[in-house]
Amino acid sequence: MPKELEVKIEFSKKIKNDVYLIGFKSAYIASSARCGQFLHLKVDDKITILRRPLSIHKIEKNLIYLLFRVRGRGTKLLSQCKKGDVFDAIGPLGNGFHVPRPTPNAQRILVAGGMGVAPLVFLAEKLREIRSPKSETRNLILLGAKSKKEVLAESEFKKLGFEVHIATDDGSRGFKGSVVELLKEQLRTYNLELRTNIYACGPKEMFYEIKKVLEKYPQIQAQVSFEQFMGCGLGICYGCAIETKEGYKKVCKDGPVFDLKII
Ligand SMILES: Cc1cc2nc3c(=O)[nH]c(=O)nc-3n(C[C@H](O)[C@H](O)[C@H](O)COP(=O)(O)OP(=O)(O)OC[C@H]3O[C@@H](n4cnc5c(N)ncnc54)[C@H](O)[C@@H]3O)c2cc1C
Ligand code: FES
Repeated sequence: MPKELEVKIEFSKKIKNDVYLIGFKSAYIASSARCGQFLHLKVDDKITILRRPLSIHKIEKNLIYLLFRVRGRGTKLLSQCKKGDVFDAIGPLGNGFHVPRPTPNAQRILVAGGMGVAPLVFLAEKLREIRSPKSETRNLILLGAKSKKEVLAESEFKKLGFEVHIATDDGSRGFKGSVVELLKEQLRTYNLELRTNIYACGPKEMFYEIKKVLEKYPQIQAQVSFEQFMGCGLGICYGCAIETKEGYKKVCKDGPVFDLKII
């Protein structure tokens, strides 16, 4: 159940360029949040009337971390917050990633387009927990960025035992090209005996490209997390509705994570 909470900033750090990491304590969110869920933050009453949605990036003990890029006024204000500042957050909200039960011979491929990496660290923590000790489980993260300077959270995934593959648009690091082209490359050596799940977050266009790639692999299941504009965040205003094969869906309530098949 989502709750409206007053949270106090414990931690605020510039990660690179315009990307920030903030943390606050909440035993409630730590115990109730599922990976892929988000918080709706009241950043300021006067300048930004609407709340701003941010994914839960990771949870360590009772410390909740949010990773975000400064886009406009709301995220700018958030980037300026200091230890001790208090703000209002509603959450955890939305339908997160469906995490499979431990399966022998499984492969999980996480695909992050730029800032889409934000919810995937929390997911990676969960996937590591359910790793089947008896059998081969391959966990990969494909990190897409414009250039090597913009690669995010690489060390987090390494710590969690993930194989990290990087794609940069300018070729300054790893594979030169988009993260979906990198996925295509990875799937060329795809072992059919591994049960494969894909989890992606990034721009909408990326999901359509993944869908095209997966036409050749109907056995692969994929879940994608949308970053849609939001109003209420509670399923009331329809401000976040997207058209799917199953009719209109609300990103805030039915999502933000959807099965790629219905997109
Ligand atoms: C469920 C969900 C989870 C999200 N998680 C994260 C996260 O973990 N980290 C993160 O950095 N961002 C995340 N976002 C996006 C984030 O909510 C927006 O960047 C933020 O609301 C922008 O607020 P602002 O006041 O800074 O910008 P605004 O002043 O509102 O807008 C600035 C510019 O950004 C564009 N913009 C704003 N919001 C979006 C959007 N959702 N999609 C595309 N363009 C947009 C506007 O068109 C405008 O040009 C998430 C969005 C959703 C729906
Ligand atoms: S933001 Fe209001 S219904 Fe989703």
